[in-house]
Amino acid sequence: MMKTDLLIVNGPNLNMLGTREPGIYGADTLEDIEAACRQLCEQMGLTMRWFQSNIEGEMVTAIQESAFETSPHPARGLIINGAAYTHTSIALYDAVQLFQGPSIEIHLSNTHAREAFRKQSFMSLVCDGIIQGFGRDSYLLAIRGISGKLAAQG
Ligand code: DQA
Repeated sequence: MMKTDLLIVNGPNLNMLGTREPGIYGADTLEDIEAACRQLCEQMGLTMRWFQSNIEGEMVTAIQESAFETSPHPARGLIINGAAYTHTSIALYDAVQLFQGPSIEIHLSNTHAREAFRKQSFMSLVCDGIIQGFGRDSYLLAIRGISGKLAAQG
């Protein structure tokens, strides 16, 4: 099975970017961000699988399906914007825990500068790194960051 280099998982309400609170999340749509990620991946010679769901269990399944060499869509690295499930989901925590490659938690906004309930992150406990507060550049910085980890793995 050909391995994808990166699985990028996006959680609930991120499909509404562009119209959703642009003062916090910026004017880009999720499609704009996907296109920018694809362009950067192409430049860097990386393959990428993009996933968005508003449903927690579908996100878990997407991660499971890429978690192992023997999975249907194995991926070498994981970038996850769990959106609101970041702060609530033990199921996503468990799924990221079983993912075998490096993982990076990302957010468009700086969650520590917002409501207190956003300070808790189940993703931070299991991801190798965190990038947040840079809008769509959080995604691009994460691709650059994880590529170093993938290269180190050989
Ligand atoms: C978010 C931050 C979360 O707290 C929020 O629930 C989101 C988006 C971000 O990218 O800034 O939906 O993950």
